[in-house]
Amino acid sequence: MLIRHPRPGDSARIRPSEITAESVYMSRRTLLQAALASGVTGLGTAWPGPAAAQTQLKYTRNPRYSTSEAPNSYEDITTYNNFYEFGIDKSAPARNSSGFKSVPWTVEVTGEAENKGRFALEDILAPHALEERIYRLRCVEAWSMVIPWIGIPLASVLKQFKPTSQAKYVAFKTVLRPSEMLGQSIGVLKWPYVEGLRIDEAMHPLAILAVGLYGKTLPNQNGAPLRLITPWKYGFKGIKSIVEIRFTERQPPTSWNISAPREYGFYANVNPSVDHPRWSQARERRIGGGLFDKRIATQMFNGYEKEVASMYQGVDLKKYY
Ligand code: MTE
Repeated sequence: MLIRHPRPGDSARIRPSEITAESVYMSRRTLLQAALASGVTGLGTAWPGPAAAQTQLKYTRNPRYSTSEAPNSYEDITTYNNFYEFGIDKSAPARNSSGFKSVPWTVEVTGEAENKGRFALEDILAPHALEERIYRLRCVEAWSMVIPWIGIPLASVLKQFKPTSQAKYVAFKTVLRPSEMLGQSIGVLKWPYVEGLRIDEAMHPLAILAVGLYGKTLPNQNGAPLRLITPWKYGFKGIKSIVEIRFTERQPPTSWNISAPREYGFYANVNPSVDHPRWSQARERRIGGGLFDKRIATQMFNGYEKEVASMYQGVDLKKYY
């Protein structure tokens, strides 16, 4: 489906119905009507709308879901990344992602839901207030950071689409754009990157869709304009630059599981007692000190055990890793 691209600055002068195809505009209206019906609107968005450069966001900190640990520096968070679409070494995403265009952006909602269609990002975000949450990110490669994300609860977004009772899982897909993402021309992973959650995990209050960090919209290397954060799981669940959300009855495929099924499972819950086949998961290196990075003990569910353990009662976490 073609959507006309507004030029920066145009949005103040033209009506939304003029910058999108009519069917998209109708989908937006359906979505907004659904939001109205479910009572989630009225907060007023703090999302600044389409803007090519990084923009300051308005948000409030959510202390209930924030760690008191000191966040990593902006530089650490934006120069030490995993985003294989832009290359495989940690500094490649910052170096190779400046030509990536995250504006305008749409997300297609498919599968087991009543409100499906392609929605402009600003319309998805419109009913929600933005929150800052300081979360630990534990990568499966045994390093970690503390990151002040800005986003909205994933559950509030998903509810707008009215998933049906058949929706047992939620699948996410990253944009496929090899002309802007040089890594997608290399067969290191099967593209596009895909991830998934069980529906109860997706609806858990800790799961968020992030649109910013350190007060501003996301830099490209961190997954602009929209990425998933599930802080009790290894970082690879946090799929970046999401263009599709699909509600499914069956467990969806996930990129790292497709790539190395004996090393990466669907659940990917942080678990210090289940080693990766090639290294221990008992400890992690907290990025930030250069040569002097601290080595610390990894916590069950990355320290969020109290909040999430009940979702896995009766599940053998060694088998379903
Ligand atoms: N999403 C996409 N599309 N491609 C990727 O390569 N890497 C994952 C995850 N999301 C990845 C991705 C991994 S392995 C990690 S650890 C986190 O992103 C890193 O997020 P950060 O770079 O913002 O710290």
